[in-house]
Amino acid sequence: MIYQLVYTSIAYHDMPLEERLDIVKTSARNNQRRNVTGVLLYRKRRFIQILEGDKSVVEDLVAELRKDQRHGDFRVLASQENDHREFASWNMKLYNPDLCDEVSRQALESWFDKAEHGEAVDCDDIGLFLHHATRSASGSAARR
Ligand SMILES: Cc1cc2nc3c(=O)[nH]c(=O)nc-3n(C[C@H](O)[C@H](O)[C@H](O)COP(=O)(O)O)c2cc1C
Repeated sequence: MIYQLVYTSIAYHDMPLEERLDIVKTSARNNQRRNVTGVLLYRKRRFIQILEGDKSVVEDLVAELRKDQRHGDFRVLASQENDHREFASWNMKLYNPDLCDEVSRQALESWFDKAEHGEAVDCDDIGLFLHHATRSASGSAARR
């Protein structure tokens, strides 16, 4: 079984794209070693990140992330065991909501609103949505 966890946090300052890409570069490298996959979303200082892998590995990573000084107000929104990964080919990807079409943007907005209020968000929903959104954007969004 694969353990999936979604958390939200707030960046200490509005983080420029280069800084976010730096985080994702380091993350992709480290996560590959740990066999962790997932996605990182960002809107107006708020992060939503989905992590998936072995439960103990993901929990250790979360403990590490909580200590990162670049963000705070760390809250786990949901966690579950699943029989498959949603982001099997992404060791970590930054998905930029600004790049998607209007319908997709509305879906993303609703997750950020839920995160804002500490409501659970569904990994499967986000996974399905992102697969669709990144395909329809010819991969340009997925590479961000
Ligand atoms: C929002 C956010 C998400 C992060 N996600 C990951 C991640 O998925 N994997 C990871 O290894 N590090 C992640 N990091 C970075 C870690 O907190 C930490 O800086 C990094 O793992 C240290 O790696 P290094 O020892 O190779 O420099 C994230 C940091 C932030 C602020």
